[in-house]
Amino acid sequence: MRVGLLGTGPMTRAIGARLVQAGHTAVIGSRDAQRAAAVARDIGGDAHGTGYRDAAACEVVIVAVHDPVAVDVVAGLSEVLDGAVLIDLGNPLDPPHWESRYAGGPSLAERIADAAPGARVVKAFNTVYAELLALPSAAGSEPPQTFIASDDAEAAALVIALARELGTAPVDVGSLRMARHLEAVAGFEVAMVASGFAAAVATRLSAVPPA
Ligand SMILES: NC(=O)c1ccc[n+]([C@@H]2O[C@H](COP(=O)([O-])OP(=O)(O)OC[C@H]3O[C@@H](n4cnc5c(N)ncnc54)[C@H](OP(=O)(O)O)[C@@H]3O)[C@@H](O)[C@H]2O)c1
Repeated sequence: MRVGLLGTGPMTRAIGARLVQAGHTAVIGSRDAQRAAAVARDIGGDAHGTGYRDAAACEVVIVAVHDPVAVDVVAGLSEVLDGAVLIDLGNPLDPPHWESRYAGGPSLAERIADAAPGARVVKAFNTVYAELLALPSAAGSEPPQTFIASDDAEAAALVIALARELGTAPVDVGSLRMARHLEAVAGFEVAMVASGFAAAVATRLSAVPPA
C-alpha cells in the first residue's frame, strides 16, 4: 500500500520506517522537497520524498505536521484527500501544562474532518511517543498500544490492520468524538514525561486489548 506522510518530523521518521519494514511504500511529503528526499533516504526501502500534494494523493495519508498548522494544511489539500483514509495523530498541546487547546471540543481530529469533508478520518497513534515507535520491536516485548477512533468503520478496520502490521497493539475506542479524550490522554502523557517519567510510559489500560 502507498502511504503518504505529511511532514518530516520524528513521527514521520518512526512510522515511515515501520511502514517500509512492513512492505509498504512511504511517500514523504514536505514543504521542502530536499528535506523530504533526505528523510526518505534515511527511512530507506522504496520510501521517496515529494511535496504535500503528491503525498496526499495516496490511499492512506498520515497528517504528521506541526499540530498548530494541521487543520490549515489539510484544508489546503481537501480536494486531493477526497476518499482517502486520513490518519490524524496530532496533539494540540501547549507548554507549560500540556492541556489541549481544544479541550472544550471539537478535537483536532474533528476539526481535520471538517476541513476535508470527503476524507475518511481516523484518529490513531497520537498517544505513542515517536521515540517508542522508533525502537525496533523486540521479540517477546509488549507492543505499544494504539487507540483508534473513527466514524467510518471500514477506514477504522483498515487502520487497525495497519497498526498491527506496524507492530503496535490497536484498541478500537469508537467514534471520532473519542479523539477529545485521546488528545487529553496524550496531554497527560506529555505532562508525565515533563515531570520526569520515561517516554515509554505510553498508556496501557489493558495488557490484553480486545481482538
Ligand atoms: N513527537 C512525538 O513523539 C509525537 C507523538 C504523538 C503525536 N505527535 C504529534 O504528531 C505530529 C507531528 O509531530 P512530530 O513531533 O513528528 O513533528 P513536529 O516537530 O510537530 O513537526 C512535523 C513537521 O511539520 C511540518 N510543518 C509544516 N508547517 C510547519 C510550521 N509552520 N512549523 C513547523 N513545522 C511545520 C514540518 O515538516 P516539513 O517542513 O518538512 O513540511 C515538520 O517536520 C504533531 O501533531 C504532534 O502533536 C507527536
